[in-house]
Amino acid sequence: MEQKVHLTKLASDTLLGLSSNPKYLLSKYFYDDAGSAIFQDIMNMPEYYLTDCEHEIFSSQKEEITHAICNDTLGFNLIELGSGDGMKTKILLKYLVGKPIHFQYTPVDISAKANSELIESLKLELPSLKVEAKTGDYFHKLKNLNGHASISKIVLFLGSNIGNFSNNETDAFFNQLSAFTNSGDKVLIGFDLKKSPKIIMDAYNDPHGHTRRFNLNHLVRLNRELGADFNIGQFEQHTIYDPKTGDVKSFLVSKAKQKVHLGTLEQDFNFRQWETIFMERSRKFDLSTIEKLADKSGFKVVQNFTDKRNYFVDSLWVKG
Ligand code: AVI
Repeated sequence: MEQKVHLTKLASDTLLGLSSNPKYLLSKYFYDDAGSAIFQDIMNMPEYYLTDCEHEIFSSQKEEITHAICNDTLGFNLIELGSGDGMKTKILLKYLVGKPIHFQYTPVDISAKANSELIESLKLELPSLKVEAKTGDYFHKLKNLNGHASISKIVLFLGSNIGNFSNNETDAFFNQLSAFTNSGDKVLIGFDLKKSPKIIMDAYNDPHGHTRRFNLNHLVRLNRELGADFNIGQFEQHTIYDPKTGDVKSFLVSKAKQKVHLGTLEQDFNFRQWETIFMERSRKFDLSTIEKLADKSGFKVVQNFTDKRNYFVDSLWVKG
């Protein structure tokens, strides 16, 4: 009799990625509890300029950002996709709460833990703020707000999360964002900009080894959750940056010819010596590409908020 085995999404995605040539793993699985803690270490290191830049943009231009997003006195829903700890958004929220502006904050994140911590901290820091957090897949969780026109929407997608998408995922994301919004709704997207390759390499090939740990933790996760037997010491992390395309690509490289067994999948995967696993893309953009992305999905760039060094941009778009 045929036995039906139900694989988790992690298991089926891993099966697909490790059976492919070249092999890959999906970067969305970096963020188990240990991975999220390592990502905090990455964000705290001086070389990872992205967080500081976006923090600077929000702190120094909160008035301009508020002015640009709130053209509607009737109120709005401030929806944040991938809200995490809401660190940068809180700067804006604190400013908005003090103003005679009607709005509610809707953070959406795949991590239930991140969401409950954010709600708790907002209760303490901004008790008067109306919050309706949602846990899960962004557009799936927001389905009931799809195209809904009665209240205007401002959608935030910060932190250069867009840079981790493939080209197809980027197009799909903006098409979904377009279907989700109505004419006049606004979106504020964080893009990391092209800059000196040295600065970019320092951020993704850091001297502290956090990025290395971040990548290797993916294998640790597979050992724990899928009964794999990756020998972590037999993989080396390697990062490249292509200044032409703006792609930072991160790989794990097998130091030896080896076989890895995945218990849950009841399958072996062979690695040649120096064979790669593609782990993550962190794309860097230029302003003309950003404008094209906006146009392609029915938006227009209203204003670009950049930091002093022009390393990062929060680009405000309006739906046509
Ligand atoms: C979450 N994301 C925007 C980070 C980035 O910069 O691509 C993830 C990261 N990977 C390595 N360092 C940081």
